[in-house]
Amino acid sequence: MQSISDEINKRRTFAIISHPDAGKTTLTEKFLLYGGAINLAGSVKGKATARHAVSDWMEIEKERGISVTSSVLEFEYDGYHINILDTPGHQDFSEDTYRTLMAADSAVMVIDASKGVEAQTRKLFKVCGMRGIPIFTFINKLDRDANDTFELLDEIEKELGIATCPINWPIGCGKNFKGVYDRQKRQVITYSDTEKGTKEGETAVYSIEDDTNVISAITKEKYDILTEEIELLDGASAEYDLDRVRDGKLTPVFFGSALTNFGVEIFLQYFLKMTTTPLARKSREELIDPVEHDFSAFVFKIQANMNKAHRDRIAFMRICSGKFEAAKEVKHIQGGKIMRLSQPQQIMADSRKILDEAYAGDIIGVFDPGIFSIGDTVCAPNEDIVYEGIPTFAPEHFARVRQVDTMKRKQFVKGITQIAKEGAIQIFQEYNTGLEEIIVGVVGVLQFDVLKYRLENEYNVDIRLEPLPYEHIRWIGNKEIDLDKITGTSDMKKIKDLKDRPLLLFINAWSVGMTLERNEGLELLEFGTQ
Ligand code: G4P
Repeated sequence: MQSISDEINKRRTFAIISHPDAGKTTLTEKFLLYGGAINLAGSVKGKATARHAVSDWMEIEKERGISVTSSVLEFEYDGYHINILDTPGHQDFSEDTYRTLMAADSAVMVIDASKGVEAQTRKLFKVCGMRGIPIFTFINKLDRDANDTFELLDEIEKELGIATCPINWPIGCGKNFKGVYDRQKRQVITYSDTEKGTKEGETAVYSIEDDTNVISAITKEKYDILTEEIELLDGASAEYDLDRVRDGKLTPVFFGSALTNFGVEIFLQYFLKMTTTPLARKSREELIDPVEHDFSAFVFKIQANMNKAHRDRIAFMRICSGKFEAAKEVKHIQGGKIMRLSQPQQIMADSRKILDEAYAGDIIGVFDPGIFSIGDTVCAPNEDIVYEGIPTFAPEHFARVRQVDTMKRKQFVKGITQIAKEGAIQIFQEYNTGLEEIIVGVVGVLQFDVLKYRLENEYNVDIRLEPLPYEHIRWIGNKEIDLDKITGTSDMKKIKDLKDRPLLLFINAWSVGMTLERNEGLELLEFGTQ
């Protein structure tokens, strides 16, 4: 029998981040393939099917063919127990995407080799950077024409501010893609097209010293370029240093092609060795070691209406320490209650598996009768742990909400407050205008549709959303400040949140700077500081 610490130490919990279309879904599928969770022949799906396979509980997802929620994929590989937190890759992502990263111990960043660092990679990276978790880079689509490899690395270093250390190196690209060179093993692994990953590739492995065979496999021209590049790399690139990787200061870089399934298993094997076991997590008092404490977990996401027939709400928890046993009671810190978690389950795609036990590193979904909030802690009754809350991320899109039927004010307020409590939207009010209107802020514009859809379907309330032009929100850091005395730019709007805290909205970043200049001593705060 394995001990609790063996179980915890074999867990690897990570998120895959990328800009839409870089290949996150394809890479995830190939990972699942190695774990035996799906079979080879069935691995390649059209985009729509692939997306639906992940999560299709909400009508809106079906209509748009995208995944609004994040799910967890779990499988075993080579003695490891792997939990992949799936973050929606669509343009219209939400705060959930960010919060999911709070539950991960590391991140895999997928970059399209012909596009380099893109807008959404930048945003997601910023959140990973804030937590200082290890980040691994997979540069994808080498079977297509790619940007210069050195330039790609340079771009990652400059744009994201993280040092890079290539673990392998591509040999050519597009039609001339010949394979990768493994710098640690000093081996050339040749590429073979596996017809979109539907059959096992016949790759060959040669030592770089075996020049005759290497040349016949990749051509003399490619061999000369490769040896020159290796020399350059050995002299110029950052040295591999596991401590720096674990601190999030250095990203190991891998190259491959998820679609043709080349370089994916090599990446997976290195990644699993280099990434961390479940990390210790900060509570208000101390760092909680996953092995030394009894069960504890925090809520990072709440999803309502996952099953229309049941109208249920699921609270997703990341287990941070110890072993969870369904039969045992736990303590909900914020509610001050000892309770048994109801219907603990592991949720993958649209299937649910009731769990008897789970360990630090795992994600469980439990039925929530309306008692949990994002950031709450639950733990064994003998533990007294309060995890630090999850930061609020600054919304980037705002709209004024108007009810179509003003008689339904009560349902409207109930609905919108509930949806805000789940963290899907943030609500604000006008400041000193006497108007009772509500302003909604979201991280991704799709949340507006979700809000409208849910108010109609769950609360029977029709709304009209009038988009507002603001893109920047700032909380005011100074405790004693007279909001009326702040002189901003003409595009600045004063609002307050539900706790009556003042906030400022701006159309552009320039106005934020101007307002700071015009009001000496004013402190404006970005996300994570609320
Ligand atoms: P995402 O989750 O990051 O949004 O990306 P996804 O995996 O859906 O991939 C986006 C498109 O890029 C897909 O093509 C996919 O087949 C393709 N792709 C992914 N990895 C590679 C790769 O290594 N090489 C090449 N050449 N293409 C790759 P699509 O035509 O949009 O969809 P589909 O119908 O092929 O699924």
